[in-house]
Amino acid sequence: MKLLDGKLVSQALKDKLKVQTAVRAAQGKKTPHLAAILIGNNGASETYVGSKVKSCEEVGFKSTLIRLEETISEDDLLFKLNELNEDDDVDGILVQLPLPKHIGEQKIIETILPSKDVDGFHSESVGRMVQGLPAFYSATPYGILLLLEHYQIETKGKHAVVIGRSNIVGRPISIMLSKNEYPGNCTVTVCHSHTPNLKEICLQADIIIAALGRLEFLRADMVKEGAVIVDVGITRVADSSKKSGFAIKGDVAFDEVSTKCSYITPVPGGVGPMTIAALMMNTFKACAAKDN
Ligand code: GUN
Repeated sequence: MKLLDGKLVSQALKDKLKVQTAVRAAQGKKTPHLAAILIGNNGASETYVGSKVKSCEEVGFKSTLIRLEETISEDDLLFKLNELNEDDDVDGILVQLPLPKHIGEQKIIETILPSKDVDGFHSESVGRMVQGLPAFYSATPYGILLLLEHYQIETKGKHAVVIGRSNIVGRPISIMLSKNEYPGNCTVTVCHSHTPNLKEICLQADIIIAALGRLEFLRADMVKEGAVIVDVGITRVADSSKKSGFAIKGDVAFDEVSTKCSYITPVPGGVGPMTIAALMMNTFKACAAKDN
């Protein structure tokens, strides 16, 4: 078994972006600028947004972190987003999800200009991605593709089983892997909470993308010998040995599945860092698209 080391690969991608950003600066071109909106005090969201801002610093991007109260009205948030849409210095905008219940998530997503939609959640971005047009691929599925590509994982003609059908991961990765490109050309099965024979389907998989959000759901008896396993899960589990008081675990029972598979992403250090590298790549592209 080999690890698909997202920490290592994301660092390599960020190192490359850092050079490309410095080259832009030397050419007198604009520095990429990401604006991130964080609403409320959700601990996990704070951590993710903190990592995104830190990564901007690492690669030489400008970043603006906008912290808003949990009680902000939808109208005030829309106003803020419109300001960022109109700000020519801002290349990419992300609103960290989940949002407080009184704010309509889809309305917020649709308000971000597609040209600044570096999260790739806007219906225009998703529609373009589905149709094979140039688009921002949403960061987690894009990060998974970059990881498969780095390790030269053969995907053509393989059976990929995606567990989970969320707008953020399951559905987009299922479409991306079915495309006539690399990584892609998979035969894809999407499984979800109403799939009756999930174990039998997983046993036929050459590649499994576990993105259902259930702690250590995928067990060794559900995995074919030699399969490639991508674990998108991130669940906090109490752990008094950690300074934070919790450990991060995935949707895959790593210890038992890792003895059977050919490749596997660890949690943490697999898909998570790749998501951030993919976001940085999208922000760079959003900026470069304005060059003329
Ligand atoms: N919440 C969980 N994943 C994501 C993501 O990729 N982007 C944003 N904005 N929020 C998230």
